[in-house]
Amino acid sequence: MARMILLKGPEEIALIRRAAQIVAEVLQEVAKAVHPDVTTEELDRLAEELTLKRGAKPAFKGYKPGRHTPYPKSLCVSVNDEIVHGIPSKRKLKSGDIVGLDFGVVYKGYYADAAMTVPVGTVSPTAARLIEVTRQALYAGIEQARVGNRISDISKAVQHVVESAGFSVVQEFAGHGIGRSLHEEPQVPNYYRPGMANPRLQHGMVLAIEPMVNEGGAALRILRDGWTAVTADGKLSAHFEHSVAVTEDGPVILSQL
Ligand code: MF3
Ligand code: CO
Repeated sequence: MARMILLKGPEEIALIRRAAQIVAEVLQEVAKAVHPDVTTEELDRLAEELTLKRGAKPAFKGYKPGRHTPYPKSLCVSVNDEIVHGIPSKRKLKSGDIVGLDFGVVYKGYYADAAMTVPVGTVSPTAARLIEVTRQALYAGIEQARVGNRISDISKAVQHVVESAGFSVVQEFAGHGIGRSLHEEPQVPNYYRPGMANPRLQHGMVLAIEPMVNEGGAALRILRDGWTAVTADGKLSAHFEHSVAVTEDGPVILSQL
């Protein structure tokens, strides 16, 4: 019975929203701390501190999907060709880098998850366009998170924005239901192929929609640390994510300040 879509009532959505607001506040503060010479570990420490101060707990630390080693940090920091799940370290950011910040918390038993990609100092026009297209792909997907639509309406909207811009969507990772756990059904892929699981969207679903977009090819590999996903061609990648409630009044972005 673990593999079913859990619909949330208004009290539950209110708690997920509280968790999501903490995620948004922390991401905003961490993004402000992004500048040349800051280490990715310093960003992780800041995220953890701000979260505990708000009475929540980081959701990723110790998270262990299947036969994976547990994720060792609170924040995912993915630099340049790193797509997702970059592990904070002594690495110093430098002007021209782009940095994916992905963060989740659990608050009173409820989970929320969001991500953004930010430039460090001055970045190339291509890097800036990649960030902007990925953000737009997320919002195009969110716009489709409506009662009566299907998951594929979100997937196709994301894919269309990305591919029209000449970039490619990562296929190995998808968005997901969220709330009572970090990862719930349904999967929310960022591309569509006939035959995929494709449930209809219902009032009370909460979805983490998260396009990961590559400047070059879609192919990736995982580093020896067991977590960090990088582009196979070494080109840039960007990632944005919001936790979104599907309601009779349309999509509600819970992780927006
Ligand atoms: N937003 C990512 C996801 O939903 C972050 C997960 S990091 C992990 O997969 F450590 F928790 F896996
Ligand atoms: Co997520």
